[in-house]
Amino acid sequence: MDRSWIKFIPDAASTMAGKVDALYFYLSGVTLFFTLLIFGVLIFFVIKYRRRSPFEIPRPVAGSHKLETLWTVIPFLIAMSIFVWGAQVYFEQARNPAGTSEIYIVGKQWMWKVQHTTGQREINELHVPVGRKIRLVMTSEDAIHSFYIPAFRLKTDVLPGRYTNEWFEATKTGTYHLFCAEYCGMNHSRMIGSVVVMDPSEFDDWMSGNASQLTPAVAGQQLFQSLGCVSCHGANGEGGRGPELAGLFGKQVVLNTGQTLKADEAYFRESVLNPQAKIVAGFGPIMPTFQGQVTEEQLLQLMAFIKSIRVVNPQPSTASPSAAGSASPSRGGASPAPSPVRTASP
Ligand code: CUA
Repeated sequence: MDRSWIKFIPDAASTMAGKVDALYFYLSGVTLFFTLLIFGVLIFFVIKYRRRSPFEIPRPVAGSHKLETLWTVIPFLIAMSIFVWGAQVYFEQARNPAGTSEIYIVGKQWMWKVQHTTGQREINELHVPVGRKIRLVMTSEDAIHSFYIPAFRLKTDVLPGRYTNEWFEATKTGTYHLFCAEYCGMNHSRMIGSVVVMDPSEFDDWMSGNASQLTPAVAGQQLFQSLGCVSCHGANGEGGRGPELAGLFGKQVVLNTGQTLKADEAYFRESVLNPQAKIVAGFGPIMPTFQGQVTEEQLLQLMAFIKSIRVVNPQPSTASPSAAGSASPSRGGASPAPSPVRTASP
């Protein structure tokens, strides 16, 4: 593993690392340039305009619009260049790109618990493949933590009661530091670990090496049964007394208030822990809360299960001979919006 050429800069091992560094060097360069310029001019003027006799009276200085415009416009342009460039890098990091694979992270005083979609679990270690985009879905069981991988130039708060994301694509194999970067109690400084970046083939071996463990989706399916979710949402989330869950993630949901929202991770979490908060149109407030009955890891497993179930049958209504004539089914009905209830039996 080759070290960085400047020792006080960590390894650069992700696609974002170079971009963050370039911006940082630009900021440092601008700061250094103006520090030297200001102090240079200051020292020069102190010498040049020093008082030469005790009776000397300085000449009065009239203002200069040209000069004032210049020293307003130039710093403005420099500040805007930092802003625009910084925003670009920020948005690239903040937006999750397409085609990522997910890894679940739960922070806890004082360890990092990692769960891969194939069922592998790790503590204070994170194995990832080089050259693939990885998205972390993170939450905390207790205090606020912060998941920090300096070599990836990546740091995101991990909060109780919420999911936060970060993504990266490692560019170099090796072992890198993992820190908690938010003071979270007595052993905060020991809440450290390592990120192991492996060759993709080596990583796939590692992932298949421990296949006895349940995948989060399968563990979630078992929870879905044992917690009794099936009695309202169906064994495969096909809906009934509760809204349909198959294929729900990422879709738009219409609530009984008429409001529409995207079914994302935050919505899922709230719907399990505080089901009365947002009720899907057409359903009553009958779901009990599961607050205190599921751990953070189990919530992630339930979510993995719901993400994994797809609509099995693409055409919802069994082909009835009377409907065969209408070529476009969307024109036939009077309802303008797609109904959340699929099981239509006239
Ligand atoms: Cu967790 Cu500091």
